[in-house]
Amino acid sequence: MDPSYRFETLAIHAGQPPDPATGAVMTPIYQTSTYRQSGVGQHQGYEYSRSGNPTRRALEDCLAALEGGARGLAFASGMAAADAVLRLLRPGDHVVAVNDLYGGTYRLFERVYSNYGLTFSYAAPDKPAGLLALIRGETRLVWLESPTNPWLTLCDLRAIADGLRDIRPRPYLCVDNTFATPYLQRPLELGADLVVHSTTKYLGGHSDVVGGALVAKDAALGEELAFLQNAAGAVPGPMDCFLVLRGIKTLALRMDKHAANAAHIARFLEGHSAVRQVFYPGSTTHPQHDLASRQMRNAGGMVSFTLRDGAEKATRVAEATRLFALAESLGGVESLIEVPAAMTHLSTSDSPLAVDPSLVRLSVGLEAVEDLIADLEEALRA
Ligand SMILES: Cc1ncc(COP(=O)(O)O)c(C=O)c1O
Repeated sequence: MDPSYRFETLAIHAGQPPDPATGAVMTPIYQTSTYRQSGVGQHQGYEYSRSGNPTRRALEDCLAALEGGARGLAFASGMAAADAVLRLLRPGDHVVAVNDLYGGTYRLFERVYSNYGLTFSYAAPDKPAGLLALIRGETRLVWLESPTNPWLTLCDLRAIADGLRDIRPRPYLCVDNTFATPYLQRPLELGADLVVHSTTKYLGGHSDVVGGALVAKDAALGEELAFLQNAAGAVPGPMDCFLVLRGIKTLALRMDKHAANAAHIARFLEGHSAVRQVFYPGSTTHPQHDLASRQMRNAGGMVSFTLRDGAEKATRVAEATRLFALAESLGGVESLIEVPAAMTHLSTSDSPLAVDPSLVRLSVGLEAVEDLIADLEEALRA
């Protein structure tokens, strides 16, 4: 498909031509594990659905187009996608990661791959020089999230990519783009080699599917990861791929509305006496507001805040909302609230990456913002 089409057009059409067999406008769900061959080794591009499936391929091609990469790969979950990236490494290799990241990623690093001879160092996301200073001869991977989960700190992706350019051997630069999505931020254009997603979140967008994805800028790296995808086998089923494809068609509309609602809510929280500090990169008071304006189309739909009365109050507020569902995950049409220290980031407790228990994280949905604010106002009185 012509890559000069704009984002919204690619989201609806890339990788998804009408089905050549029937003319079906929506990508069929090819619910098949295998494919008849007309002679031994003679097939139409598909042999077995772990290696490839047409519905999955449509999603993979669409993701590659949206991120501007050479190859997209879909996985059974965001963690399966992250796992495939780590399988590029060898015992003795070193990873530099941001010190604010999804708790499950930290768990995969420290409780799985540290058993296979990998070592990890952690740096502040907003200090590129400090992060680059941790790179040593064995460093093969730099792992970023931007905005980070849960503090919504940004990494200056171009500054970090530029800093890595002359380092030999040059580590891969991988960005978890789950919070931003390719509609808001395109890390491969800023110098990253790889983008990872939990498609469970904004790409799926309706809290009805678990999935993950990788997009490689370069075809050779994409091929290496496709080998690992097939060899280890953590692939999504065709129905799940269909759901993510359907979600992606409305991604642009949803992200604009998520961000508009989040900006209103951030302003409301900033003016509330029970709130100690609000973390939303779209706020003019956020220390990285300029970087957010440069690097992202808008600041997205996640808002975090701490409470003056500490952890107990955070728990009470999260338990008191009625519209905001108390639940893990994010990025769906409905609003969610959670306490990261006790929920999504429990695996970092007792570690240097432990999250302040008075932090509350909101995934701001697409409901009427007046109703969401009224819900928070009542809960903050609890
Ligand atoms: C930023 C980020 N990356 C990765 C993941 C993992 O994705 P999944 O739950 O689809 O395995 C999550 C899940 O919450 C996440 O928030």
